[in-house]
Amino acid sequence: MFDDVKEQLALIIDRFCQTRGLPTGKVEFRNIPFSGEWGLAAPLFPLAAADPDKSLPVPKKAQEFAEILKNQVADLPGFSHIEAVKGYLNLYFEPHQYAERVVSMVLEQGKAFGSQAQQGKPVMVEYSNPNTHKPLHVGHLRNVILGGSVCNILEASGKKVIRANYIGDIGLHVIKWMCNYEMYHSGEQPGVDTMRWMADLYAEADKRFVSEPAFEAAVRDYFGRWDAGEQHLKDLWKQTRDWSMEGFEQVYTLLGEHFDRIYFESEVEEPGKALVDQLIQSGLAEDGRPENPVIIDLDKKLGTKEEYRVVVILRSDGTSLYATKEIPLAIMKFTEYDLDQSIYVIDVRQSLHMKQIIKVMELMGYPWAGRMRHLAYEIVNLPGNVTMSSRDGTVVLLDDLIREATQRALEVVREKNPALDAETMQDVAEKVALGAIKYPMISRENTKVVTFDWDTALDFNGQSAPYIQYAVVRANSILRRLNEPAPSKATFSHELTPAEVNLIEKISQLPEVVQKAAVEFKPLLVATYAFELAQAFNDFYTQCPVLSAEGSTRLSRLVLVQAAKIALENGLSLLGIQSPQVM
Ligand code: ARG
Repeated sequence: MFDDVKEQLALIIDRFCQTRGLPTGKVEFRNIPFSGEWGLAAPLFPLAAADPDKSLPVPKKAQEFAEILKNQVADLPGFSHIEAVKGYLNLYFEPHQYAERVVSMVLEQGKAFGSQAQQGKPVMVEYSNPNTHKPLHVGHLRNVILGGSVCNILEASGKKVIRANYIGDIGLHVIKWMCNYEMYHSGEQPGVDTMRWMADLYAEADKRFVSEPAFEAAVRDYFGRWDAGEQHLKDLWKQTRDWSMEGFEQVYTLLGEHFDRIYFESEVEEPGKALVDQLIQSGLAEDGRPENPVIIDLDKKLGTKEEYRVVVILRSDGTSLYATKEIPLAIMKFTEYDLDQSIYVIDVRQSLHMKQIIKVMELMGYPWAGRMRHLAYEIVNLPGNVTMSSRDGTVVLLDDLIREATQRALEVVREKNPALDAETMQDVAEKVALGAIKYPMISRENTKVVTFDWDTALDFNGQSAPYIQYAVVRANSILRRLNEPAPSKATFSHELTPAEVNLIEKISQLPEVVQKAAVEFKPLLVATYAFELAQAFNDFYTQCPVLSAEGSTRLSRLVLVQAAKIALENGLSLLGIQSPQVM
């Protein structure tokens, strides 16, 4: 909040530091929450501690600095009073001026409110990471929602973001699919529902593989031909992989996700094997072939005990594994882009694997290894009214889940507002449905299990996306009933009620919440914020008349409603959730 004021203050403080031979950039301002007034507070301890003159203890020195600075900032406009207490410089705003500044700033910034201009090196976030020839199903939901939202939040916090998707396009699952296709479905093409079709064929192949020895033998044979590089299989693979990718694309579009860089496992397999040779030569890896695999005994290398364990980087028969491909992938990411950080959104069960890979990169001497990070998340529990698998035993596909959510949302919306025309109702239902699915995925600590059920997800009175969306709709309905253009500025002069104070306070927090959520990779903070903001708006809505208020009270409340609407919409959008305007 108030970057301009903070900049002015920083200038004055820097000048003070320069005249005293103190380091600049040590002083940071925090917002003082409302307690009759809003304010900014700067602790001066870091500056005091950095003073080469040690004649006074740090707290005393900080207090001395606070007092000097208090005089130097005394002429700045907009503050009702300034204090130097206990090593802090506290500046208090006159409440009406503060309220006015908050809302006019929000209105001015609009969609950009809460966001910083992007600068610096990019952060890569790898997420979703499905395997081709298999469907995107409910088990993939949390990853894609969490990853997408982390990207939005990082971007808003001022980072450039590269959205990456690492696709498992080789392996037994692919060979099984192709073999089954050629034996039983030769020449068939996917229909409109590509993913469903691919998934059904995969389920069929898998069933045959475990129950029909002849099919299993055929798959083995296919594997041999694939390894030998048979052109026909390569062509079939390319074609079927494309179908699969089209199916993924359809679901990403439904979810509002997109990727900047796709990596395929197939493109890192050979580079991975080459790197294994290098690792053996450098002595980092032990070659146990032909009987045993190639391994890196990390605990032995590091002198640790059962911490990093052993990572297998090549099978004894020379074929690659998961870890083989991880090493060139990491290198590729950092050589292709000059990355500030490389984030891997992968479920918590792969924590040891990621810890090992990061360590391997460090031992290989890559200076960026410390900038790799595993963003772990827990699974989603689907009890009660959510089916995990359909009748034939296959998992629920993501597009089916979205369809069911839309159906359910449609019922709820129809009940709430039967007067809406069919087209609007469908549009609203889609937004509510996606919100209902997404919000529970990010409104919990990443490392805690999410329990998803329809009643909670669609509860308009609970902590849910529809509750927050409904607050937007309420704000919008006030503005729509206004028979004149909404004012874009207002002078706050009426006595602010506690509901107004609370709402202004909440609105003003968005930029800081975004920063904190970005640093901690926690969309949860934005999810909670958006809910609390909706609560604050609802209190205001029920307690403070807007359209029937008089004069400047009416005007200032009208701008406050607009500011609240912007903050709500921006908060939801960081979670990948759209705001319907009616409901
Ligand atoms: N495709 C893998 C799977 O389905 C996940 C890949 C995760 N990313 C990575 N760099 N290991 O399990």
